[in-house]
Amino acid sequence: MDRFIVEGPTKLKGTTVVSGSKNASLPMISAAILTDEDVVLHNVPDLMDIDTMCKLMFQLGCNCGRKKDTLRINCSGLDSDFAPYDLVRKMRASILVFGPLMARLHSAHVSLPGGCAIGVRPVNLHINAIKSMGGKVEIENGYIISETDKLNGSTVYFDIPTVTGTENVVMAAVLAEGKTIIKNAAREPEVVDLIKLLKKMGAKIEGEGESVIEIEGVKSLKGAEYTVMADRIETGTLMCAALITHSEIEIKNVPLYAIDAILDKFIEIGGKYILTDNGMIVGGEYIKPTLIKTAVYPGFPTDMQAQFMAVLSLANGTSIIEETIFENRFMHVAELNRLGANIIVSGNKAVVEGVENLVGASVMATDLRASASLVLAALAAHGKSEILRIYHLDRGYEKLEEKLTQLGAKIWRVK
Ligand code: EPZ
Repeated sequence: MDRFIVEGPTKLKGTTVVSGSKNASLPMISAAILTDEDVVLHNVPDLMDIDTMCKLMFQLGCNCGRKKDTLRINCSGLDSDFAPYDLVRKMRASILVFGPLMARLHSAHVSLPGGCAIGVRPVNLHINAIKSMGGKVEIENGYIISETDKLNGSTVYFDIPTVTGTENVVMAAVLAEGKTIIKNAAREPEVVDLIKLLKKMGAKIEGEGESVIEIEGVKSLKGAEYTVMADRIETGTLMCAALITHSEIEIKNVPLYAIDAILDKFIEIGGKYILTDNGMIVGGEYIKPTLIKTAVYPGFPTDMQAQFMAVLSLANGTSIIEETIFENRFMHVAELNRLGANIIVSGNKAVVEGVENLVGASVMATDLRASASLVLAALAAHGKSEILRIYHLDRGYEKLEEKLTQLGAKIWRVK
């Protein structure tokens, strides 16, 4: 298993470019199931999760070819509704084929994703929504077995604005008969990006980015070409890298419209930024404590919680971080404490007592964003750190160690 060796503390300088969004790309790949024509996606990051999604598309009878950052998917050969456990367990987002398969084949045989380090991650809201649209759903041997004569428009209410749940229902509804209304829909920018692609494919959707989305079913969809939005979580992670090392770097290709909450907290904890054309110069000398409460968009994203915790572990004072989205998203606390942080967890709150310095140590990545927070902490820690199980990082960050090395970080991947 690959690991990182990091020498700290390091100063960063220079310019880096944000890659395309993982969480916008994944549903868009699945959306190709809805048409026989080519779906061409540009700015798709080169990540393990994208590879896994492409493997799943091949499993369903589709083609999925990459040329640099362009992915061309064609599902004219779609001949299976089976999403096997050994693929789904590697990447929970595989559940995103459920809605499109029900729309296109009126059947789905999709493994339940199972939990992950950060929580149980049920898909009951996805299932209930498909049932309300006429899908018969059984759970057998860990699989969702669903079929229907046709999908009918329905009013779907989510008691939690689930991101992939909203994406699955939108993709089921675009070919359903009649109108579907989703109430308490997820408003994340990645959901909006998917809907923009679907509208280019001929879908009739109103209200993207709002809590109520209306979809008028159409007979069929055509292919489309689309450029995926930049990754707002990678953007936030690079901003944190600048602040935790008290550096000044330029980040290009920033999705400014999608990072209000991240930028707001970044300034609150001492971050500075200057807008440049299609990017910004970020940095900061003095880290201040604050209160963070994760929330659904447009609130502060749970996917940025671990990275901000790493920065706040060096703040001048005590911060409190409340995680409201996932029930177990503090796995990075024990590892940050191994690096000399002083963090105590009580329920869904973490109390982060800022310390003078972090000190290099061997630590273990446990999940995607936790691994990013350990990299950030190791950049600032005095001495050598070793980060194990960085396959977690490879799932969601494109060439992060190369980008950091170009900025002057001392970070090596050891096979
Ligand atoms: C998406 O996961 C993202 N993944 C996650 O990013 C992100 O953390 C999460 O949204 C929240 O923003 C992708 O987009 C591929 P949810 P998703 O359904 O859709 C509960 C990363 O780091 N829930 O919005 O699975 C659930 O347990 C990943 O890139 C139900 O109870 O998240 C959680 O507590 C990690 N029943 C809350 O809702 C359901 O049927 C939010 O989950 C569905 C969800």
